[in-house]
Amino acid sequence: MTIPVLVNGSLGRMGSQSVQAVQADPELDLVAQTDIGDDLSAAITGSGARVVVDFTLPESAMENARTIIAAGAHPVIGTTGFTPEEISRLQQECESRKLGGLIAPNFAIGAVLMMRFAAEAARHMQHVEIIELHHDGKAEAPSGTAIKTAEMIQHERPQAPRPLVECRELQPGARGTSAYPVPIHSVRLPGHVAHQEVILGGVGETLRIRHDSISRESFMYGVILAVKRVVTEERLHYGLEHLL
Ligand SMILES: NC(=O)c1ccc[n+]([C@@H]2O[C@H](COP(=O)([O-])OP(=O)(O)OC[C@H]3O[C@@H](n4cnc5c(N)ncnc54)[C@H](O)[C@@H]3O)[C@@H](O)[C@H]2O)c1
Repeated sequence: MTIPVLVNGSLGRMGSQSVQAVQADPELDLVAQTDIGDDLSAAITGSGARVVVDFTLPESAMENARTIIAAGAHPVIGTTGFTPEEISRLQQECESRKLGGLIAPNFAIGAVLMMRFAAEAARHMQHVEIIELHHDGKAEAPSGTAIKTAEMIQHERPQAPRPLVECRELQPGARGTSAYPVPIHSVRLPGHVAHQEVILGGVGETLRIRHDSISRESFMYGVILAVKRVVTEERLHYGLEHLL
């Protein structure tokens, strides 16, 4: 039996790629596509979608997530911009309904590995900075991947404070954002898709861990895997690594 899937944000860069990926998979059935202005709740109910893939905008991500969960569908959300509090609220809502789902800041397998390797390396090398590079159409900064990487690094070394580097910023932000345990520098340029380099510094050495998504197809392996897996889950996960 195929899994009925709705793609929300279907006219966008990631949404249209997801539509193609779902249509190409014989185990999935694309039953609906929605974008801004459509009634998401009615579309889920009317189409009988079991899974909703959401690639929209950070400002509508929370409302869309709550609509999907309230309609009883499994969310597979790639939209970025959730706060930790919002994620745990959605996790509680899914848990009370025994509803499986996923919020993933990055669906590319190489990016998941890059984050894991960076967290592992940071246990041994305290000085870490993140440079993330995206296309100039990306709505927000820093990227969800960079924030998740910083969170994973902090999780691996909970006792270690952010190393103190004495450097007076002549312009605010010159040393990257200070809101996370690791400085994050965001580059936005035409010609990019999604790229991240984690640079670790030691005495007399540096380690660079880099991932490049050179096309949006790189995210589709994870999207399709998640769509198939969430229907067997009973909670909302944060990060594709939990389904691998
Ligand atoms: N998780 C990942 O692997 C991954 C990868 C790339 C991008 N992203 C994120 O996915 C999101 C979308 O990226 P994009 O490049 O496709 O953006 P985009 O601007 O190309 O597409 C967004 C689409 O969402 C639609 N939209 C906006 N508000 C909506 C609403 N309330 N309801 C329904 N549709 C709505 C827009 O009309 C548009 O078609 C961003 O948050 C981006 O950071 C995640």
